[in-house]
Amino acid sequence: MLNDSHKKQEARFFDQLTHDASKTKLYDRLNDLGFQEAFISYFESLLGDLCGQQVLEYGCGNYGDLSLKLARAGARVTAADLSGESVRSTYRILKANGLLKQVAPLKMDCEVLCFADASFDLVVGRAILHHLRLEVALPEIRRVLKPGGWALFIEPMGTNPCLNLYRRLTPHSRTEDEHPLTSSDFKML
Ligand SMILES: C[S@@+](CC[C@H](N)C(=O)[O-])C[C@H]1O[C@@H](n2cnc3c(N)ncnc32)[C@H](O)[C@@H]1O
Repeated sequence: MLNDSHKKQEARFFDQLTHDASKTKLYDRLNDLGFQEAFISYFESLLGDLCGQQVLEYGCGNYGDLSLKLARAGARVTAADLSGESVRSTYRILKANGLLKQVAPLKMDCEVLCFADASFDLVVGRAILHHLRLEVALPEIRRVLKPGGWALFIEPMGTNPCLNLYRRLTPHSRTEDEHPLTSSDFKML
């Protein structure tokens, strides 16, 4: 993603996606099969004790499921996303689960985080880095992490044939600016 007009377009796309279930039909079917549950359990197994940890969910989207799990594990979570509708949806889900004291959903550009240096023990994200300019996002993540803090992401890999098939079957589920991560992205990471 390159400039402000691209960012506005990205926010608009995900604002609309939040209200248009037809565009995420296949993704939602995979979720019904336990796809996200399996991934979140794997995430949890890597994270250890989250009690009292300050966690940033980077590019939280509209499902609220990851922030929900993190908060239930005792973390203090900030959930940030560029799309106002996604943030509102996350807010509603957390409110319905009585977790708003532990989670603050915020509309924010993850390339320009409005947090002081060393604010978080952990930054987590799912399918977000590949929407951003890594050379801008990575230093921001590093800046807001406390010394010894962790960053944990799950991202689409351009080298995965199953993922590439899924992407070909669902062209309307994404914007033009993103790309699944490549080996040169990994070198930068
Ligand atoms: C594929 S969705 C993933 C959302 C969520 N992490 C999930 O797994 O459901 C990508 C998300 O990135 C957000 N996004 C794109 N560019 C962003 C930026 N510059 N800052 C913050 N969020 C951004 C979009 O609004 C969208 O919610």
